[in-house]
Amino acid sequence: MENLKNQRILIIGGSSGMGLACARRLASKGAHVIIASRSQASLDAALTTVPGSASAHVVDFSSESSLEALFSAVGRIDHLVLAASSSAAWGPFRDVSGAVLLKAFEQKALGYWQSIRAALPHLRKDGSVTLLSGTASRTALMHTAGLAAINGAITQMGQTLAMELAPLRVNVVSPGLIDTPAYDHLSREAKTALFDGMIKDLHVGRAGTSEEVAQAMEFVITNDFTTGALIDIDGGSR
Ligand SMILES: NC(=O)c1ccc[n+]([C@@H]2O[C@H](COP(=O)([O-])OP(=O)(O)OC[C@H]3O[C@@H](n4cnc5c(N)ncnc54)[C@H](OP(=O)(O)O)[C@@H]3O)[C@@H](O)[C@H]2O)c1
Repeated sequence: MENLKNQRILIIGGSSGMGLACARRLASKGAHVIIASRSQASLDAALTTVPGSASAHVVDFSSESSLEALFSAVGRIDHLVLAASSSAAWGPFRDVSGAVLLKAFEQKALGYWQSIRAALPHLRKDGSVTLLSGTASRTALMHTAGLAAINGAITQMGQTLAMELAPLRVNVVSPGLIDTPAYDHLSREAKTALFDGMIKDLHVGRAGTSEEVAQAMEFVITNDFTTGALIDIDGGSR
């Protein structure tokens, strides 16, 4: 079991939601967490909520040059966590054009791909990579074919990378409905309708929390015998 004390852990998408919950959890256990996202203001606000040792860098992981700048600033890391999001491809299949899907794919799946490639020279050989995918790739949910395509790519990528990049460990955590700021753009009524519609199919009868997903992220980061794993934290949505 990996001791988190003094481990350097980079979390792209660490300024909000599950990435931020993961940062708080790991920092509270002695890791040095580096959170990264596009907005300096979000990073500054997030940093004030992280206990212990933490720093922040701006990055847009859809840009290879932005990733290069990030890794030259950050240097050596022990673990990489990818928690950045794109929900742009959510909607009825007939309404999601190829151009919209391609942009959303670039924003998430390609971003994950490029981040891992950029990280490799800086990542401890037997460290770990943790990818957040999503339950739309694990079960049929209405109006999520776009998310299924994007997260399905990530889910499958994880298994192959675990083989190809060993002894680096690569694991995928697949969240279900988790109440995070990702839904803040919706009106209260729209969010309630969306959540009620999804919660009625969940065994646990509620949405999940970022902290519940962060617990699983800590597990795959610290358990040295876990690689190529896919962990569903979804309240039973499948
Ligand atoms: N919440 C759910 O119900 C749910 C369900 C299934 C899967 N997921 C997946 O779980 C992951 C985390 O979701 P969340 O709900 O925690 O999201 P969130 O609260 O919206 O946080 C997303 C994070 O990604 C960063 N980000 C977005 N685009 C980026 C880019 N191009 N480059 C760098 N950082 C970027 C955001 O910061 P900036 O805006 O500052 O860049 C923010 O820190 C995502 O991959 C999401 O698709 C979420």
